[in-house]
Amino acid sequence: MNFSTPLRTNGLVLTSVLANLTPNTPTWSRLKAALSVHRKGNNKCSMCYNCSDFPKMSCRCVYDKLPLVCVCNSLLSSQDVCDGAELSDAEKVCAECGQQQPLPWEGCILPERIKRCVKIGEGTFGEVFSTTNSSGDTVALKIIPVEGSETVNGEDQKTFGEILHEIIISKELSSLKKKQHNQTYGFIGLNDLHCVQGCYPPDFLNAWDTFDQRKGSENDRPDFFEKDQLFIILEFEFGGVDLENSNGTLASLVVAKSVLHQVTASLAVAEQELHFEHRDLHWGNVLVKPTTQKKGSFLLNGTDHCMEIKGVLVRIIDYSLSRLEIDDLTVSCDISNDEELFMGQGDYQFEIYRLMRKENKNNWSSYRPHTNVLWLHYLCAKLLSMKYRSSGGRTVKEMRKELTRFHDNVLHYSSATEVLQSCPLFQ
Ligand SMILES: Nc1ncnc2c1ncn2[C@@H]1O[C@H](COP(=O)(O)OP(=O)(O)OP(=O)(O)O)[C@@H](O)[C@H]1O
Ligand SMILES: [Mg+2]
Repeated sequence: MNFSTPLRTNGLVLTSVLANLTPNTPTWSRLKAALSVHRKGNNKCSMCYNCSDFPKMSCRCVYDKLPLVCVCNSLLSSQDVCDGAELSDAEKVCAECGQQQPLPWEGCILPERIKRCVKIGEGTFGEVFSTTNSSGDTVALKIIPVEGSETVNGEDQKTFGEILHEIIISKELSSLKKKQHNQTYGFIGLNDLHCVQGCYPPDFLNAWDTFDQRKGSENDRPDFFEKDQLFIILEFEFGGVDLENSNGTLASLVVAKSVLHQVTASLAVAEQELHFEHRDLHWGNVLVKPTTQKKGSFLLNGTDHCMEIKGVLVRIIDYSLSRLEIDDLTVSCDISNDEELFMGQGDYQFEIYRLMRKENKNNWSSYRPHTNVLWLHYLCAKLLSMKYRSSGGRTVKEMRKELTRFHDNVLHYSSATEVLQSCPLFQ
């Protein structure tokens, strides 16, 4: 059975607005670039720069400083920008990538890095490969074809407007690790972004074939793209293996409890800072990687907290349905007309989409943190049903009881924050 997100018939729509993102560097704080995303026509999104105090300067994305919004005025003269000219979606995505235009693959990823790539996962919209970066760290490249007329995996390709949703949310959540008031490392780190043009490189196709032979792929072999095809590459921290593929490898339910605790804490921090709802937290979107670290820390409304890690670090990924707010402005994805998403059968995951819709009355811009609780309920059920290397012993039996109690009661809480602060499992 395919447990990835069900196909979405109408593509994604950005319904609302993002503005006043002011990263913490002196240069960026001067920019005060207000960036707005709004629906424009049929599934099209656009952004305007509201730049009353936009200095004439040339700036670039500097990812080691993790700016939240990169404004690159080389696409337009600064005069154009300050005149309030609207950037096209293509220009906005290029600006986010710190590029003036799409580049050839090898202009963004060094050939030796392309050679080292291994396919590690796939979704409806993207292929994911691991490779190493210039410091030798393993990273994950999520490669998404955009703007082309050919369907991929039975779906229309995302538009630049639709990809902005994932870019913006990935940046916001990645930057939570640097916040002073609400801080968490639980969302996957975004290292870099690229916009490339060209056929799929043969090394990626070889890696694709190896994955297909070993595990079987549900996606189309990406060998049909022409040389004018555009792709967005999101370079993420390598987060480990998703829970679906970790079945049978985790040590015991003691680890499962820590996974649940880490997910709950991350969601709670993002609720407090961004009014965040993930809305698609199935077990393919929760990654775990081994660590020798004993304790994990997070900041919730300025208070420092500590939790036991039990050998695995958790990272949450995949924000294609997510919702958040910055100031009064909301970024969300309107799936109200997406019949297919709500028709899935055969796993509790598919019921969750319907339960979310029932609770928000099909209004996907509204903030209902209880949707995060629904996904915690689902995750707890999955963790209880998984196989573990060790399933016996008193501690494990006690843990099964505690997790079952959590499963029976968690739906009564209103948000992940409340679960974290009040649920006996985490006290
Ligand atoms: N940073 C990462 N580190 C390790 N593995 C990853 C990472 N990002 C993605 N993966 C792997 O790739 C898979 C697909 O990634 P992702 O969920 O982002 O794609 P998607 O197309 O949005 O999926 P979906 O079908 O759920 O919408 C994940 O389930 C995971 O196995
Ligand atoms: Mg996914």
